[in-house]
Amino acid sequence: MCGIVGYVGKKPVVETVLEALGRLEYRGYDSAGLAVLNARGLAVRKRPGKLSVLADAVKREPIRSGHLGIGHTRWATHGEPSEINAHPHTDCSGSLAVVHNGIVENYAELKTRLLAKGHRFRSKTDTEVIAHLVEEHAKRLPLDRAFRQALKELRGSYAVCLVSAKEPHRLFGARNSSPLIIGVGKGEAFVASDVPAILDHTRRIIYLNDREAVELSAAGPKLFTLEGRPIRRSPTTVAWTVSAARKEGFPHFMLKEIHEQPSAIEQTLANRLDPARGRLVFDRRTKRFLDTLDATEKLVIIACGTAYHAGLVGEYMLEEVARLPVDVDLASEFRYRGPQLDRRTTVLAITQSGETADTLAGIQMAKAHGARTMAICNVMGSSIAREVDAVLYTHAGPEIAVASTKAYTSQVTALALLTLYLAKHFRRIPLAQWRRLLDGLEALPRLMRQALTSEAAAKATAAKYAGARNFYYLGRRYNFPSALEGALKLKEICPVIHAEGYAAGEMKHGPISLIRKGWPVVFVAPQSPVYEKVVSNIEEVRARHGSCIVIASEGDAHITRYADSLITIPKTDEFFSPILAAAPLQLFAYYVADANGADIDQPPNLAKSVTVE
Ligand code: AGP
Repeated sequence: MCGIVGYVGKKPVVETVLEALGRLEYRGYDSAGLAVLNARGLAVRKRPGKLSVLADAVKREPIRSGHLGIGHTRWATHGEPSEINAHPHTDCSGSLAVVHNGIVENYAELKTRLLAKGHRFRSKTDTEVIAHLVEEHAKRLPLDRAFRQALKELRGSYAVCLVSAKEPHRLFGARNSSPLIIGVGKGEAFVASDVPAILDHTRRIIYLNDREAVELSAAGPKLFTLEGRPIRRSPTTVAWTVSAARKEGFPHFMLKEIHEQPSAIEQTLANRLDPARGRLVFDRRTKRFLDTLDATEKLVIIACGTAYHAGLVGEYMLEEVARLPVDVDLASEFRYRGPQLDRRTTVLAITQSGETADTLAGIQMAKAHGARTMAICNVMGSSIAREVDAVLYTHAGPEIAVASTKAYTSQVTALALLTLYLAKHFRRIPLAQWRRLLDGLEALPRLMRQALTSEAAAKATAAKYAGARNFYYLGRRYNFPSALEGALKLKEICPVIHAEGYAAGEMKHGPISLIRKGWPVVFVAPQSPVYEKVVSNIEEVRARHGSCIVIASEGDAHITRYADSLITIPKTDEFFSPILAAAPLQLFAYYVADANGADIDQPPNLAKSVTVE
């Protein structure tokens, strides 16, 4: 978590750093800070709370402008959110400042050593050791070497940025298992945790790899290994636009991103769907990888949170339609479970950010056991995308809101593509079913647009139940994961509400004991082979006077007599229904949270990208 930014150039540094931090606030927002080098030396400001608190503080106590600065927006791991624990952290002299994203696992050991040498610590963070460690090495080494030497002693993950009054024209950065990108402009250069932070200034990006360092000056970046060997790497131009990273009139990024789903799905399908020739197309590397998947005995999907729910939908798709044996595992469990892996196993990571620490570690472990690896990922050049043998990018564009929406539906779309490709390639699907599903895939963006017209119904239903404090979400088969995802959406953005998703058939095995008058239960009940079974579950809740909010297929007249509130989605094959059902589930959660005055884009205790364990 945490967002970091660094800037060298002629633009007003404080404003440039603050503005870039604003685009990274989704990564953490319990405190923020910046450090600027100007003619007087190093100026540091930091505050607990959101970035706006820091911006106000800087207005009240302006910093004399400079030419180089770093900034940080924090999601606390070591040390409570407070001014003293906010970044940047300085050395004993106060002339060197560091911002960091990640966890220094051996910080206690390093701190003991540095304390013995007389260093004085102020904060309770792991990060502060970096500042003192560099200071210590800089007693006998030039700053660039002292910086790299210090990094070699760190265990754990870091994306780090450092400035020092002793080197007023250079900014130092490095990464290991936490993201850091470099932006190359004209007479200016940036580092940042993520591309949207600097899209206003440049789209020319260099991706830093693990255990690489960068020295940034107005002349541009210079890359090195931690051993000091120079690295040559040219920038790539990213396609994301500035407006894609802004709210564009929506009150929240979440709502904007919900409405972007038709085009996000379109982008996931773009250049891959060739209905005229009745085929699916992948780039050569992905195709080669997929075409040899028959040598795989087991496909293991690993992911966290919403991406895990996408993986669960994928399990239904791939097992039922492509007839591949699939396991789905939470990456945080997978990496410690001792799973049986070898070259006959393929591990598929699903991840929006490509930076989730547990998913990345799961992939690294799979590789170490000789398994083949693949990812469905949104962020190009991210750590996971670079780690795996093949990547299926979702191309959903930047997702800023903490709550994942368009990333989820584009992940499920990518899984549908994958399933249909494999089913056809390995001749495991009857032609008529293949044609029907291919048509369904092509229709998805249009159907998603239609599904979003459920907004008024979702909003009205949300108004009716906004006062409830507990919700159940139930579904079966392909829509069991929809129930999990619907509940996650609500509880993550509306912290006063508890919501739980279950497989509807599990209801009688425990959760039903809580149902009483007015207890809201959201049923995901589109047309499917288990429709009647779900209707029976609705009956069971009604018999206990619970309130049934039902998401059903358009034209389902039968369901109206069972639903206290009804929201419809377009008719589609069950295979695609989780994608369409996501729209009203997201909208319902959004409007319940809004009615409760929740901080929708930045829910407490959460961060967009979980780059620590
Ligand atoms: C869901 O709304 C959350 N943003 C979270 O569960 C997320 O899906 C999870 O942290 C995984 O992130 P990733 O897709 O970037 O790996």
